[in-house]
Amino acid sequence: MKIGCPTEIKPQEFRVGMTPNAAHEAVSHGHSVLIQSGAGTGAGFSDENYITAGAEIAANAQDVFARADMIVKVKEPQAAERRMLREGQILFTYLHLAPDPEQTKDLIASGCTAIAYETVTDRNGGLPLLAPMSEVAGKLAPQVGAWTLQKANGGRGVLMGGVPGVGPAKVAVIGGGVVGTHAARVAAGMGAQVTVLDRSLPRMRYLDDIYSSIFKTSYASAGNTAELVAEADMVIGAVLIPGAAAPKLITHEQLGTMKQGAAIVDVAIDQGGCFETSKATTHQDPIYDVDGIMHYCVANMPGAVARTSTIALGNATMPFMLAIADKGWKQACADDPHLLEGLNVHAGQLTYFAVGKALGLDVTSPQLVIK
Ligand SMILES: NC(=O)c1ccc[n+]([C@@H]2O[C@H](COP(=O)([O-])OP(=O)(O)OC[C@H]3O[C@@H](n4cnc5c(N)ncnc54)[C@H](O)[C@@H]3O)[C@@H](O)[C@H]2O)c1
Repeated sequence: MKIGCPTEIKPQEFRVGMTPNAAHEAVSHGHSVLIQSGAGTGAGFSDENYITAGAEIAANAQDVFARADMIVKVKEPQAAERRMLREGQILFTYLHLAPDPEQTKDLIASGCTAIAYETVTDRNGGLPLLAPMSEVAGKLAPQVGAWTLQKANGGRGVLMGGVPGVGPAKVAVIGGGVVGTHAARVAAGMGAQVTVLDRSLPRMRYLDDIYSSIFKTSYASAGNTAELVAEADMVIGAVLIPGAAAPKLITHEQLGTMKQGAAIVDVAIDQGGCFETSKATTHQDPIYDVDGIMHYCVANMPGAVARTSTIALGNATMPFMLAIADKGWKQACADDPHLLEGLNVHAGQLTYFAVGKALGLDVTSPQLVIK
């Protein structure tokens, strides 16, 4: 199979769909790899790195899209990229179709076979191609929150770990899933006093078993949440209700109970955020002030560490990418029901029920499509 990887064109996207290591693996499986010149620059990979791995360099995106059997990317194809997709071509990338009717219409019209990273599952009910980005965002959250707490950034001027004779910052993490756990570990590692709030008792049992010496857990009742938020120097929002907008757990009015200059890092902003006062920001202008509480609400946090994120994503996508290339998408999906869950569009048909429901479109069962 000829696997093509274009340069990402979404603004401020520095990741790349294939690392040189992934290219090398694909080549060693007998495939050929076509990388757009400069595609890896933002993540610190040169054209020479890809050439050493056995890939061919293409001058532009048109060449990649025209010649590749499978396109491997990071972000959903932009309008200009969608125009280059063709019937029978495989697209393997993040898609997030449910809130995006334009993209869905274009992918259906293209006749391509589109497999979405975010809907591939694993045997534990997890989302293995979303998890690495949650791990990155979780670990970044206390880092950016600590910066937000600095006086020059409008924060209350509190050091995460304190110093001998001065207590550490208090951090409340709402949601103890992948983001929340990684955030809590890093915040505790910086010396802060951390409590994780969740509504899932099995999850809190797990966290308590593994991390009770590092951070505390608390059931996320409205009362407990209000109390911990009022005491906190930093609150990290990390809840997720799969397939739904994030619940608004902290009202605008509640900001009045918080310490002046406290920091909110709302990682769940990509699902609308779990604070009533959250609105998405960018890496260029990441923080804003509401009633003296500093909000950091960047919707694509992993982009700040494009190299780490690219390698982490590549590690997770590589086995699926190789299975699709080795067996063809149909056999790979027939052999692996978790990969089949990723199938969103095939040959002019929508094949993912939740997207059909969200957009009011007819859906063909993916099982039917692979028969
Ligand atoms: N901003 C970014 O760049 C970025 C990057 C990665 C992930 N995210 C987002 O971060 C959020 C969390 O992702 P995740 O991978 O950790 O999800 P996850 O499913 O692993 O964890 C979510 C946790 O929230 C808990 N929860 C649900 N409702 C709750 C409530 N009312 N109160 C307290 N806890 C509640 C769940 O029990 C679960 O433990 C998602 O919205 C995800 O899209 C954002």
